[in-house]
Amino acid sequence: PEGPTVYDAVGGQPFFDELVDRFYDGVEGDPVLRPMYPEEDMAGARHRLAGFLAQYWGGPPRYSEERGHPRLRMRHNPFTIGQTERDHWLAHMRDAVDRTLAARDLPDEIEQQMLSYFEMAASAMVNSPFRF
Ligand code: HEM
Repeated sequence: PEGPTVYDAVGGQPFFDELVDRFYDGVEGDPVLRPMYPEEDMAGARHRLAGFLAQYWGGPPRYSEERGHPRLRMRHNPFTIGQTERDHWLAHMRDAVDRTLAARDLPDEIEQQMLSYFEMAASAMVNSPFRF
């Protein structure tokens, strides 16, 4: 059914910029994940993820205009993502979701939707499930 999008409900792009900034601030201090990101300030990574998430939740298609079809599994192929990487990624994202929503008075369903989406998506990005 049509209706207000999650993007609109959370206040648009500023929400996703804040979410992604908190997320990458966590990644910056994470010894498992930090080495995967060569950029000093991760400015490019912040911009791409914030654009993607805003688009996914019903905002304007900035990500696809700049990057084309998401093809996220394919774009993650260069990185070794096992259970450990997935768990660390998800922990930072859950923390960022909680903190970013905390300042806003929004229905619980928004948080539930976001957390289950991130859990599903992070699991789907695992491309190296075994260690030999
Ligand atoms: C890009 C790691 C899960 C969305 C990247 C990059 C790394 C990475 C190292 C390259 C940084 C850049 O330059 O953009 C991981 C790890 C994950 C994970 C370790 C653990 C499961 C996810 C999930 C999503 C996501 C669940 C979406 C919900 C993206 C996007 C990009 C990206 C949109 C930019 C793609 C592009 O346009 O090049 N990720 N990622 N990632 N990731 Fe992830």
